[in-house]
Amino acid sequence: MPLNGLVLSIMAFTSFFLFSSLIIAAIAPSLHAQPNQFCEAGIGYGDSSCGDSIPSSSKLLIKGGTVVNAHHQQIADVYIEDGLIVAVNPTITVGDEVRVIDATGKFVMPGGIDPHTHLEFEFMNTVTKDDFFSGQAAALAGGTTMHIDFAIPIDGSLTAGFEAYEKKAQKSCMDYGFHMAITKWDETVAREMELMVEKGINSFKFFMAYKGALMIGDELLLQGLKKCKSLGALAMVHAENGDAIDEGQKKMIELGITGPEGHALSRPPVLEGEATARAIRLADFVNTPLYVVHVMSIDAMEEIAKARTSGQRVIGEPIVSGLALDGSWLWHPDFVTAAKYLMSPPIRKQGHDKALQAALATGVLQLVGTDHCVFNSTQKSLGIDDFRKIPNGVNGIEERMHLVWDIMVESGQISVTDYVRLTSTECARIFNIYPRKGAILPGSDADIIILNPNSSFEVTAKSHHSRVDTNVFEGWRGKGKIEVTISRGRVVWENNELKVAPGTGRYIEMSPFSYLFDGLDKKDASYLNSLQAPVKRAKSTA
Ligand code: URP
Ligand code: ZN
Ligand code: ZN
Repeated sequence: MPLNGLVLSIMAFTSFFLFSSLIIAAIAPSLHAQPNQFCEAGIGYGDSSCGDSIPSSSKLLIKGGTVVNAHHQQIADVYIEDGLIVAVNPTITVGDEVRVIDATGKFVMPGGIDPHTHLEFEFMNTVTKDDFFSGQAAALAGGTTMHIDFAIPIDGSLTAGFEAYEKKAQKSCMDYGFHMAITKWDETVAREMELMVEKGINSFKFFMAYKGALMIGDELLLQGLKKCKSLGALAMVHAENGDAIDEGQKKMIELGITGPEGHALSRPPVLEGEATARAIRLADFVNTPLYVVHVMSIDAMEEIAKARTSGQRVIGEPIVSGLALDGSWLWHPDFVTAAKYLMSPPIRKQGHDKALQAALATGVLQLVGTDHCVFNSTQKSLGIDDFRKIPNGVNGIEERMHLVWDIMVESGQISVTDYVRLTSTECARIFNIYPRKGAILPGSDADIIILNPNSSFEVTAKSHHSRVDTNVFEGWRGKGKIEVTISRGRVVWENNELKVAPGTGRYIEMSPFSYLFDGLDKKDASYLNSLQAPVKRAKSTA
């Protein structure tokens, strides 16, 4: 946006001219001094809005809405200053310099936190379409104000991987954190895990699938679980049996099944259930918490339910595509249509979706992610003759908040406070950033959404903000529209318009030893006490 437009926008935000002038004075020189390198490079999320850098008033009052936290909801005003929530009270009065947003009849909730994304991810001989700017812009348009992306090591090096992701994230327009994948094992990797924790990473992911690429075996998983425990870092698993999938894929090709349906047939739910069970048992053996990403099947979910019933600390993350869709699309006669639904583990047959919803509603599963990992139709066509070459991944970062509302709240399966817990608060607790994130409380970051339950939304690739040319939720219409997104006190989404600028997002460091680690030492001690060993035996004289 040219500076003239910027000035007009700022003036529209506040009727107090002197205040506007102060903001302009503060911002204009830096805009002149620093042209928007990201937009000049043509990386805006859309044609028209790249580089919009409209500052919001640093003081905001959200008036008269129903303020919802995971533990409580009340009609109240929320006062924000300099990116932080200052007060939440039934009646707050402010001066003219404060911008007031009327939220009467609407829900005022913590911005969504997406625990599972892949932006600018180099995978299967290509790179995802969304980078840290376009993916985050899409997220903000859909009410998500923070995400945690999976940093991938380079040739096994965590440090090199971290540095590469730091660079990718320079164009961020919202807050983000990292998980780190572990793809090999030696003393250097173990030491680097310590360094990563110092850099603000408190979770490590182990891929039990993608043989020949990211996959690790049980021996490495065990070492990794032990190291995670000692660091107070959460072990995460992509749970599918990679060796068996390799067999399954060969079988499909032998049978002449080369299309997208071969993907689902080669990696049935039983292989997800098996790996989930194995990871759970190994985590139990080590006595460390486990987080199972993208739980897609009843088989995996039931393993998590069993473990939790027995008292084990296992977190299960369904993703929005698994909750909302069924895998019959993979049998669609048009290759591009079928291929856009291809991800791992596969979106399952009808029935798994409803079972996952019920598990989420009843506390068997704890939070919702997206696994946003998008490839356009040309990229998906890399596997036109062989489903093994179709890049795995679907969208969701922009749609998650609306779809979870529609599927879970509108259907009556969960309360509005549960919605906040499943889309934001529980993620903040698990990754140890609560109540800075995931809450509308004095002192929390002002990451806030305003949802109008009487308004409606529609999903279509024609108007979404992701760079991908398709949308797996195409045509979905539902009730409950996120009308306003506030990111650290800045109104970034309003009147169906995004006001974002690359380089404004912050890296959020996450410290180890979340609540999931409380009391593990006591369990270890009682285990040692229960051993009744070593048995003291008299030396044999024979
Ligand atoms: O298909 C998927 N899920 N792609 C992203 C990588 C992963 O396994 O999370
Ligand atoms: Zn995965
Ligand atoms: Zn993923």
